[in-house]
Amino acid sequence: MELLEGLYSRRSVRGFTVEPVADDDVMEILRAGSWAPSGLNNQPWRFVIVTGSEKRLELARLTKYHRIIEDAPVSIVVFCDREAMYNDTKDHQSMGACLQNMLLAAHGLGLGAVWLGEILTNAAEVRDLLDLPVQMELMAVIAVGHPKDRHQSSSRRELKDLLLAEF
Ligand SMILES: Cc1cc2nc3c(=O)[nH]c(=O)nc-3n(C[C@H](O)[C@H](O)[C@H](O)COP(=O)(O)O)c2cc1C
Repeated sequence: MELLEGLYSRRSVRGFTVEPVADDDVMEILRAGSWAPSGLNNQPWRFVIVTGSEKRLELARLTKYHRIIEDAPVSIVVFCDREAMYNDTKDHQSMGACLQNMLLAAHGLGLGAVWLGEILTNAAEVRDLLDLPVQMELMAVIAVGHPKDRHQSSSRRELKDLLLAEF
C-alpha cells in the first residue's frame, strides 16, 4: 500500500470478526510503533499485549468502550515510561507518533484498529491490573482485529479553515 493512500484510507475500526490476529502481525505493529521519531531518540514507549480472554474482560471493564475491547482479539496497552522521559510535551508528542504508526501499520497489514483514550480515566487501575510500576504512564489502548466492516467513513475540516496564514 502506498504511504499516502494508507494514511488517507485508514479509519478507526470498532467491530471485529472472531478471526485471531497472527503473532507476527502484532509484533509488526509494535515494531512500527517503535520506529516513531522521539526527542533525543529516547524511545519512551512501552507495550503490553493482551489476548487472554480473562485479562481482556478485566481490561474492558475499565472503559465505557468495553464492547470494543471485548470484541477485539488483541488489545495493545501503550505506556510512556516516565523514567525514560526528558520533556513532558516532547515525550507525549513522541507517544502520539508511536500510536499513529501503530494504527497505520495495522491498516497496512489489512487489519483494523482503534485508538482508545477514554480508558485514561482509569489509568491507575489499568496499571494495577497489568502489575506495572507507577512510572508507566498509560497513553492509550489500541484494539486490533480483522474488521467486521471495511466501509467506515469519517470527515475532516476543510484545509482553508485550518490554514492560519501563508506568507
Ligand atoms: C487521543 C484519542 C483518543 C481517542 N479515544 C477514543 C475512545 O476512547 N473511543 C473510541 O471509540 N475512539 C477513540 N478515538 C478515535 C477517534 O474517535 C477517531 O480517530 C476520530 O473520530 C476520527 O475518525 P477516524 O480515526 O476513523 O478518521 C480516539 C482518538 C484519539 C486520537
